[in-house]
Amino acid sequence: MTKLLHLDASPRGARSHTRSLTGDFVTRWVRQRSDVSVARRDLGCQPPPHLTEGWIAAAFTKPEERTPQMLADLALSDELVDELLGTDVLVVGVPMYNFGIPAMLKAYIDQIVRVGRTFSFDPELADPYAPLLPPGKRAFFIVSTGDSGYQPDGPLAGLNQVEPYLRTVFGFIGIEDLQFVYVGNDEFGGERLSESLAAARDRVAELTA
Ligand SMILES: Cc1cc2nc3c(=O)[nH]c(=O)nc-3n(C[C@H](O)[C@H](O)[C@H](O)COP(=O)(O)O)c2cc1C
Repeated sequence: MTKLLHLDASPRGARSHTRSLTGDFVTRWVRQRSDVSVARRDLGCQPPPHLTEGWIAAAFTKPEERTPQMLADLALSDELVDELLGTDVLVVGVPMYNFGIPAMLKAYIDQIVRVGRTFSFDPELADPYAPLLPPGKRAFFIVSTGDSGYQPDGPLAGLNQVEPYLRTVFGFIGIEDLQFVYVGNDEFGGERLSESLAAARDRVAELTA
């Protein structure tokens, strides 16, 4: 069985382009394959909590030395890491906020980038860091923006802190196979937006085929 994890980071409901496109992606993916299970997390409406001093102390304490309080502080993080470890395909809706990812998605990433669980650190090695996620996972990010042209060959690529960051952080834990779909022009509306949405839907159809 293939396991798909569907994450949405927009706090908007029906007006969210990323939600609409991730929904389309997951529907198409499941329709065209047998034996797919889908897990879903609504980070936009129910974001994971920010890290605390207790969380940090617990994460950097050896597992066998953790107190019951430390285990409780890491419980949600462990649940999210376990879920990601068992995921084959990640589909994430990402609104661009102030040129970067929304805080709700950053809160999730802070919970899943864990020493000893999703990456290792050995100060004795020339390259002290190694990813711990098993190979073969794929991730699809659907990014929506108010303006347009943020894709790597676009005129606003230099302002895009979404794709470079997501490639860095997911590569760090072991997901290298990342695809990005962009929809732009939410702030302009009209034909510019509808053309961009149509192109994004076509790209979703290609990627899910
Ligand atoms: C707080 C906030 C910050 C935003 N920052 C940017 C930005 O830096 N660049 C941009 O092109 N659009 C920006 N936008 C527009 C959103 O990226 C756009 O509305 C997008 O469609 C949101 O995703 P959603 O439709 O899934 O909610 C911003 C919107 C909000 C609410």
